[in-house]
Amino acid sequence: MSEPLDLPVRLRRLRASAGIRAMLSETTVEPRHLIQPLFVTEGEQPEAIASLPGIFRIPLAQLAAKCAQLQLLGIHGVALFPKIEASRKTAEGAEAWNPNSLALRAIREVKFKCPGIVIFADIALDPYTTHGHDGILNGAGTDVDNDRTVEALVKMSLLTAQAGADFVAPSDMMDGRVAAIRQALDANGRTQTGILAYSAKFASAFYGPFRDAVGSTLSNGKTLSKATYQMNPANRREAIREALIDAAEGADLLMVKPAGSYLDIIRDVRESSALPIAAYQVSGEYAQLHAAAEKGWLQLRAVRDESLLAIRRAGADVILTYFAEAFAKDYHAR
Ligand code: PBG
Repeated sequence: MSEPLDLPVRLRRLRASAGIRAMLSETTVEPRHLIQPLFVTEGEQPEAIASLPGIFRIPLAQLAAKCAQLQLLGIHGVALFPKIEASRKTAEGAEAWNPNSLALRAIREVKFKCPGIVIFADIALDPYTTHGHDGILNGAGTDVDNDRTVEALVKMSLLTAQAGADFVAPSDMMDGRVAAIRQALDANGRTQTGILAYSAKFASAFYGPFRDAVGSTLSNGKTLSKATYQMNPANRREAIREALIDAAEGADLLMVKPAGSYLDIIRDVRESSALPIAAYQVSGEYAQLHAAAEKGWLQLRAVRDESLLAIRRAGADVILTYFAEAFAKDYHAR
C-alpha cells in the first residue's frame, strides 16, 4: 500500500455522507422563501400559456381557491398579473385606474376569500397600453414620459392599496416613483401598505413568455425595447445606485430581476443594503429549463432546485418563481 499524501486538510471529509452534507449545508430553499406569480383572466376556463408549460391564466372565480392551495403548501405570497382584454387597452392605459379593473377585482377576491396570503400587486401600465410600454408616451410618441407615468402609477397604487394589496410592486423603472407612491399612500391613511420595489430591473430578453401571458407582445412580432427605463444588462454599479435610491425613497423590499443571469447583482445589493432582497426568476428562465427538459437534455427537478438554490445563495431572501407550486409539492413529498 502506498503512503497517504501528507495533507493537513481534506475537504472531502465534510462531503462523505448524506448526513454530513445535510448538516453542513449553508443554504436552504423552502416553500416560505417563494412567491408564486399568478396570471388572472376574465375567461371562464383556465388558459394554458404555450411558452410557460404548466402555468395557466386563472379565471377570477378560481383565484382564491388557488391561493388557498398554495398556502397549504407553505407558500405565503402571490404576485398578481392581469391579462387585460385587447378592447380595454388604450395609449394611456386608463384601465389601470378603473376602480372595477380585473386587477382590483382579483385583489378584493383574494383578500376576502383567502385573507392570510400576502398579495403583491404589480404596478405598471404595460398590461393596459396598446403599445405595451410600462408608461404613458411623450407627445412625440418617442419615449415614455417619466413624470406623467409616475402620476398614473400613484393613482393605480392608491386603488390597489384600497383593494387590499399588502404590497404594491412598481415594476416600471420610472425615476422617483417609490417616493411618490409612499407619500401618496401615507397621505391617504395607507401607512401599512408596503412597497416591493423592482429596483434593479434589467432590459432583458428573458421576459418573452411573460409578455405572451399578459398579451403585451407586439403584433408585428418585434421585441419591444424598454431600454430607456429598464437597466442596461452591462451595469453593476448602477444597480446598487438604483437599490439605494429606492431604499431611501421608502421601499420595504428591494428586487433584482431577472435572477439567474444576475446573481452578482443580487449579491451586490445584498451587501449594500440591510433591506430584505427579492429576486425574480423570470418567465424565460422557467421556459428554458422546461424546454431543455422536454428534449430530455436536462432533468427538470434537479435544475429547478439548483437554480433556486443558487439564487438564495447569491443573497435573495425571497424568490418570485413560476416553479413555486411545483417546488413546494415536491418539497413536502420527499
Ligand atoms: C412589466 C413586467 C414584466 C415582467 C414583470 N412585470 C415584463 C416587462 O418588463 O416587459 C416580466 C416577468 C417575467 O418575465 O416573468 N411591468
